[in-house]
Amino acid sequence: MRRYKTWFKTFLDCKFSLSSGVICLVISLVVSVFVYVNVTYKPDFKNNAEYKLTYRRPTLTSVEHFDEVTKPITTIKFTEVTEEALNTDDWTILVTVNDGYFDFFQNWLWYYMKLNINTPITVVAEDDIVFTKTKQVCEICTVLRSNLNISDAVNYGQVSFRMMVSTRPMNILNLLKSGKNIIYSDLDIVWINDPRPYFDTLADINILRDSQGNLCTGFMAIISNNRTMKAMEEWHSRLDGKLLRNQRMFNIVVKSDDVSVNYKILNTTLFPSGRDYFGKHTQEQRSKAIIVHNNWIVGHDNKKERFREFDLWKV
Ligand SMILES: *[C@@H]1O[C@H](CO)[C@@H](O)[C@H](O)[C@H]1NC(C)=O
Ligand SMILES: *[C@@H]1O[C@H](CO)[C@@H](O)[C@H](O)[C@H]1NC(C)=O
Ligand SMILES: *[C@@H]1O[C@H](CO)[C@@H](O)[C@H](O)[C@H]1NC(C)=O
Repeated sequence: MRRYKTWFKTFLDCKFSLSSGVICLVISLVVSVFVYVNVTYKPDFKNNAEYKLTYRRPTLTSVEHFDEVTKPITTIKFTEVTEEALNTDDWTILVTVNDGYFDFFQNWLWYYMKLNINTPITVVAEDDIVFTKTKQVCEICTVLRSNLNISDAVNYGQVSFRMMVSTRPMNILNLLKSGKNIIYSDLDIVWINDPRPYFDTLADINILRDSQGNLCTGFMAIISNNRTMKAMEEWHSRLDGKLLRNQRMFNIVVKSDDVSVNYKILNTTLFPSGRDYFGKHTQEQRSKAIIVHNNWIVGHDNKKERFREFDLWKV
């Protein structure tokens, strides 16, 4: 209380002394900026009036207390891997599906089948139901059961969503170790055309870039070699306990000096982010897209609606 009084007195003194006047001014400025940043200023990614859905990354809640949920991730194992299943071709496509997004898997598969690419598909099933369903609808898929059990259509930012994306480096690493080159694809993507001719064959990793200049781990082609395996291990170990930072960690890892992986960014007109494709590109630019990534929007139904609106939903 006394301290408060002293401070208040100093404040009143403002008009009498130049130095305390300057301090008062600085304090007022800091308070104003603080209030502006925390109360008034809301970043707005929605810069396209034409499109009614909001482009935003949700504010993530505290991630301080996830120690117990991160534990299973460090011991992830596939229960149905067989040598034979994994040694049929040099390249394999890797996707991860759970029951809540099974329709997105079907949509992705519809486009994939149309391309007549004979690259085998490895599907990591994140729950029991989708494990059975996937084996039923996809004869050409090798379906592996992860040791998670998350069947809801979870959204970006939710704990279980983060658990799933945190297993990505291990899923990739397991396949790289079996000598497979991998095309990893999120399922909120459709492949309009065969992406393979656009890969730089000298790069260890061909990858998307999002509209803010970061590498986007939603789609990447990865050569199996010591550098990429090291990168995946490093990505995995840096993620441990920091579920939120999946993509940021990847960016840090591949750009760091201890991992000498070389990566190439895929042309952003041909491989656009959802923000560019749906929000910024002209019809002519859209017609050039090789894959379409339905990101920069949150939620199963919003993504589906947007695919529908652009005639990219075939389920
Ligand atoms: C997964 O969860 C379902 C219900 O959500 C349950 O019936 C099933 O036994 C669980 N499977 C495993 C392997 O824990
Ligand atoms: C990877 O590293 C191991 C040992 O460090 C080496 O024996 C092997 O030849 C390397 N493989 C490739 C593909 O470079
Ligand atoms: C990306 O592809 C488009 C369309 O083919 C082309 O016009 C553009 O020059 C390419 N950009 C780069 C950086 O290569």
